[in-house]
Amino acid sequence: MDKKFVDNLFDVKGKTALITGATGALGKAIAFGYGHAGMKVFVTGRKADKNIALCEELKAAGIECAQEAGDPAVESDVVRIVDACKAAFGEINVLFTAAGYNNPQPIVEQELDEWKKIMDSDVQGTWLFCKYAGKQMIDQGKGGKVIMVSSARSKLGMANYTGYCTAKAGIDLMAQSLASEWTAKYGINVNTINPTVFRSELTEWMFDPESAVYKNFLKRLPVGRLGEPEDFVGPSIFLASDASNFMTGANVAVDGGYWAN
Ligand SMILES: NC(=O)c1ccc[n+]([C@@H]2O[C@H](COP(=O)([O-])OP(=O)(O)OC[C@H]3O[C@@H](n4cnc5c(N)ncnc54)[C@H](OP(=O)(O)O)[C@@H]3O)[C@@H](O)[C@H]2O)c1
Repeated sequence: MDKKFVDNLFDVKGKTALITGATGALGKAIAFGYGHAGMKVFVTGRKADKNIALCEELKAAGIECAQEAGDPAVESDVVRIVDACKAAFGEINVLFTAAGYNNPQPIVEQELDEWKKIMDSDVQGTWLFCKYAGKQMIDQGKGGKVIMVSSARSKLGMANYTGYCTAKAGIDLMAQSLASEWTAKYGINVNTINPTVFRSELTEWMFDPESAVYKNFLKRLPVGRLGEPEDFVGPSIFLASDASNFMTGANVAVDGGYWAN
């Protein structure tokens, strides 16, 4: 085996990534992680001011960045965002979908509109970005990588999570279906990352070591702690790099061992 082959395995320099949900905890970590690894990052979320502020932060850190705001569940927004990414960087090599929403509620109390909001943000938004960014990758003819953020909850039910668990299970199977559709034909690998609890604005309260929720989680986490956004970066670079070329349709647990017991 050639040394150069190994040296280049994890090299993602110069690739272009379109990151949805980039204004959130995990999307932002990936924008910085990919940027510091030498990728050009195109960030998107629904609000222009948040996108612009993030882009300024990335540029201040020496990262090449561009942005466009829009709702991942609205087809015309997704078309506009993908076009803007193409216009800014010429091509899309990696699609990373981190936009998502949850509102845990008992099914008998949940309004249909809330169920639809969960499905739209998690499933429809991911599907639309795959359709349009995927079309661009196919047209480029150079392969590509699609990485969808799913959840450890995609394979485990939970009370009050009928929307979220169903949506994330849908994302796992969307990745497996697209892997079957695209990888051999177009060289586009499609995988999910399935995280357990990571620190974010919404989960911060779970990180209180005195809380029952925290203590209960630790009983299920062989790694002995909850996730920090930085923990997400290594697997995300791996899945964007040539090192993962033989992986497709995988649901990759980045979960501190949560699925292990
Ligand atoms: N953190 C965790 O513990 C954890 C665990 C398992 C899975 N996940 C998954 O990881 C992904 C990122 O989570 P995170 O922790 O980074 O969450 P976050 O900090 O709450 O960020 C969520 C992102 O999604 C966008 N978003 C929120 N509601 C939306 C909606 N209704 N429609 C479209 N976009 C919406 C937000 O962008 P704008 O508001 O700017 O549009 C934001 O960028 C999500 O898919 C989440 O389900 C997270």
